[in-house]
Amino acid sequence: MQKALIGAIEYYLPQSTLTNDVLAVQFPEFSAEKIFAKTGIKQRHISAADECSSDMAVQAAQKLFASGVIQPEQIDFLLFCTQTPDYLLPTSACVIQDRLGLRLSVGALDFNLGCSGFIYGLSLAKGLIESGQAMNVLLLTADTYTKLIEPTDKSVKTIFGDGAAATLITGVDYEKELIAPVAYGTDGRGAENLCTLGRGMRHGNSDADPYLRMKGPKIFEFTLDVVPGVIEQALVKAKTTFGEIELFVFHQANAYMLEHLRKKLNIPQEKFWVAMDFCGNTVSSTIPIALKEAQKTGMLVGKKKVMLVGFGVGYSWAAAVVDLDNFGSSVNECG
Ligand SMILES: CC(C)(COP(=O)(O)OP(=O)(O)OC[C@H]1O[C@@H](n2cnc3c(N)ncnc32)[C@H](O)[C@@H]1OP(=O)(O)O)[C@@H](O)C(=O)NCCC(=O)NCCS
Repeated sequence: MQKALIGAIEYYLPQSTLTNDVLAVQFPEFSAEKIFAKTGIKQRHISAADECSSDMAVQAAQKLFASGVIQPEQIDFLLFCTQTPDYLLPTSACVIQDRLGLRLSVGALDFNLGCSGFIYGLSLAKGLIESGQAMNVLLLTADTYTKLIEPTDKSVKTIFGDGAAATLITGVDYEKELIAPVAYGTDGRGAENLCTLGRGMRHGNSDADPYLRMKGPKIFEFTLDVVPGVIEQALVKAKTTFGEIELFVFHQANAYMLEHLRKKLNIPQEKFWVAMDFCGNTVSSTIPIALKEAQKTGMLVGKKKVMLVGFGVGYSWAAAVVDLDNFGSSVNECG
């Protein structure tokens, strides 16, 4: 029976950057060093005025195809995770199908999740593959949160950057599960703690606040509260133990929060991967970007038990244990 496997990842970051030095001029109470010490971020990439989520996702997907790992006609299903779609309708996935030249028989949909989105995408792809409905799923994640940020709001301007990732999830003939069943969590009571209320149908035609608003300390508290539990559930689902996890890759929210989580969970520094200084918090793309960076260093070779955890806007959170030993090999090699 086919098992889903993460086959390859590529990512794209917009050309323009916003550095801590520039932020420090605008917000003199934050020096460049202080921003880095608090957030772990040196720069964020900012999408151009005419650059939307689908444009970045297409760039990431084209890098994946150019790498030779898969061709557009081999994709059976396109999943696109974004909270900043090009249009209210049609769904961006349809536009992307055309721009990438995917088959007309491809399945394609958008789903609206933030920091938990990549794990949800893995779960949906696993379901499609392991139920025999698809062989090669293209999971695209992309957001242009910087277009939602009020120019004077330093709390979010220091943290979020734009970016996209393209992840190939493919079916291989294997006995064991390579993406373990996902553990989920949802608590809509936290919806207003990270939100943009003024752009949907409910308030879209009023004077409602059109900007991204974050109650940082509330998000911080919620995360410290739920992450240990969802890790425990993911371990049970994967029939493994905390000590057997070889690497932890969390949603790259910001360094302050990641370090608190690492300490609370007693994760040794060498098993805790952080890669966000060059791009900031790119929402649903942080985990695939961090995984790609880990792969580049060779540190994923032989890693059969990697814990992925996403958490944030919603509130929504999810975790899964994945086998990344084969990550980066071509589809043919995987099969
Ligand atoms: C946003 C967050 C970093 C703020 O940290 P905090 O300690 O709660 O912030 P406070 O307002 O109490 O400020 C404490 C100090 O940090 C500084 N600080 C806060 N945010 C900062 C930032 N973005 N950059 C630099 N310094 C910052 C403050 O100036 C203050 O400095 P001082 O002690 O010299 O006066 C923290 O609440 C957090 O990590 N929240 C989660 C937010 C998040 O990751 N959201 C993404 C979605 S998952």
